Amino acid sequence: MAHSMSNNNSRRRFLLGSAGLAATPLIAGMAGCSSDEQASAADRSASPAAGGAGGGTATAAVTLSSRRRLGELEVSSLGLGCQTMPGALYGPVSSRADMITIIRTAVDQGVTLFDTAEVYGPLESERIVGEALEAVRDQVVIATKFGFEVNPDTGERGGINSRPEHIKQSVDGMLQRLRTDHIDLLYQHRVDPSVPIEDVAGAVKELITAGKVRHWGLSEPGLQTIRRAHAVQPLTAIQNQYNLLARDPEKQVLPLCEELGIGFVPWAPLSYGFTTGAINPYTRFTQGDFRTGVPQFSRENMTSNMAVVQLLQDWGVRKGVTPAQLSLAWLQAQKPWIVPIPSATRTLHLLENIGAEEVTFAGDELQEFTTALNAITIAGERLPAQVLAGTGVEAPMP
Ligand SMILES: NC(=O)c1ccc[n+]([C@@H]2O[C@H](COP(=O)([O-])OP(=O)(O)OC[C@H]3O[C@@H](n4cnc5c(N)ncnc54)[C@H](OP(=O)(O)O)[C@@H]3O)[C@@H](O)[C@H]2O)c1
Repeated sequence: MAHSMSNNNSRRRFLLGSAGLAATPLIAGMAGCSSDEQASAADRSASPAAGGAGGGTATAAVTLSSRRRLGELEVSSLGLGCQTMPGALYGPVSSRADMITIIRTAVDQGVTLFDTAEVYGPLESERIVGEALEAVRDQVVIATKFGFEVNPDTGERGGINSRPEHIKQSVDGMLQRLRTDHIDLLYQHRVDPSVPIEDVAGAVKELITAGKVRHWGLSEPGLQTIRRAHAVQPLTAIQNQYNLLARDPEKQVLPLCEELGIGFVPWAPLSYGFTTGAINPYTRFTQGDFRTGVPQFSRENMTSNMAVVQLLQDWGVRKGVTPAQLSLAWLQAQKPWIVPIPSATRTLHLLENIGAEEVTFAGDELQEFTTALNAITIAGERLPAQVLAGTGVEAPMP
């Protein structure tokens, strides 16, 4: 977001290099392949010798130099989500070693914010992040999340739990898996409807005093819960789903963040990959892929929502950028304290997403694009009903 998009040499190199292939008819014409197959083909096209997730041509990529503030915490303007790296959520990944390589490539390319959680894997995402970042620990910001029962030995996942003693136990496990003595940004993953947020904030405050945690945040909380939490221990970030198909935060959460000086981290900023243009109603997801249960991903709803992809593709051609880059840049353009955390298990995707750094909106382009987006009715909810029910929850009073 730092420089003008048009006639930018590094952008041209980027688009002519590996990642630009994702926007070419070669890949767009692969409708009917699984998303996995499409991305694999893109990797192979980019670097025939390298193959797999470690492939791609890093030398052609943009380096992420711009920084943003989440509260008092400085981070790169784009982070890397690491939820998918254990290979469960969206199907298998190439290899664990490749995931470590991708995280280290992100560091080399200027990314400083890495997002994980105890339940990702479960536990395994934190282990991957810890191993990948151990050697550069002081140069990066690690964000993770508590809030569920997870057996620290087996990884077996239970229900929601934000009782203070459980939070403290979870954090001790996190520090081991992350190979560090402190967590830079610790989120409550979901509000626990049986624990007052004042008790949660109090536990986190003690962890901060003990030096085990530096900053904290909430994910998908109710509005009053944000205010009450912030009054006990100032919040650094709210992490909610926010993307071109899910714009709920614009109504109340973003204004509240602005009022209180809290940063905002959009999760699933690429609509689970949909706004990259790599997914269409004929995409075959692997068995167990989380997206098969998301209402926006029913074939009927995807067919309708392709209007958003079409808009991104039209503007992508106009501005010489990819739909993924435009999706991320649009989010970043909403507020200077918004830091999206797209996940990527392919180097090619990571590098393409970092290229959002160079997208700017001239004149009234942002308004023009947003007006066109506003005219599209989004079909389907952003999450399965039972998961959606756990969002926007207000914690009980003490
Ligand atoms: N707080 C919460 O409750 C919560 C919930 C969910 C997620 N999160 C966080 O948010 C992060 C991101 O969310 P997400 O992974 O669900 O959704 P996302 O970032 O919107 O989408 C990720 C998907 O898009 C694909 N992709 C990424 N860049 C691409 C590109 N340039 N071209 C084509 N495809 C591309 C990825 O493919 P490849 O893997 O093949 O690269 C992956 O399938 C997670 O890793 C996690 O850290 C938080």
